[in-house]
Amino acid sequence: MRASDIAAPVSEEAAVTLSVQGLGVSFHKRGEKVPALEDVSFDLRSGEVLALVGESGSGKSLTALAVMGLLPEAARVDRGAVLLENRDLVGLPAQEMTRLRGHRMSMIFQEPMTSLHPVLTIGRQLTEGLEFHLGLTPRAAAVRAGELLRLVGIPAASPAIRSSSSPTSRRRHSMFPSRRRSSACWRTSARG
Ligand SMILES: Nc1ncnc2c1ncn2[C@@H]1O[C@H](COP(=O)(O)OP(=O)(O)OP(=O)(O)O)[C@@H](O)[C@H]1O
Ligand SMILES: [Mg+2]
Repeated sequence: MRASDIAAPVSEEAAVTLSVQGLGVSFHKRGEKVPALEDVSFDLRSGEVLALVGESGSGKSLTALAVMGLLPEAARVDRGAVLLENRDLVGLPAQEMTRLRGHRMSMIFQEPMTSLHPVLTIGRQLTEGLEFHLGLTPRAAAVRAGELLRLVGIPAASPAIRSSSSPTSRRRHSMFPSRRRSSACWRTSARG
């Protein structure tokens, strides 16, 4: 994917929150280097929604994964910068990225069935980030998780909060796909 594939920002006034500059990513397999992203650049301003549009395999997911520091093991950032609020994330220690992910930046994965942990309850997956990033007690996090679920039409007392998302779970049908999606979205957006 190249810079020219990416749409221009819709607003020039708000502060730039995320700036991807000349990003290059390649895969290294058996001594061979295969470029996947070449010179990707875009700015994302506060309050702005930016869509990366392109054919399958053009590098949309890879761009998002590079920003999040979640590239597959064989992939490397060869060049460029990922500036989150003017701080370059490329090469940041894993521990530092863990502090940022799910707090200053989050990713809603395409498939909630696989993005939710298969053996943890939905409730636990919502409270984990609230406890880790916001320092809430388990009790306060559970209350907040209940509030967030209610906002998307899932009552806190619902079995959903206690159910797992595992495809192999005996309770796998206890949560409709739209509810899994809502839970996945709240899990990623509730921690800021
Ligand atoms: N694990 C991997 N190993 C080798 N190459 C990979 C790997 N993951 C992605 N790629 C390659 O990187 C390129 C970009 O892939 P990416 O998944 O970002 O595309 P995409 O735009 O998200 O496609 P889609 O619309 O199908 O989701 C593709 O050429 C793909 O083959
Ligand atoms: Mg993709």
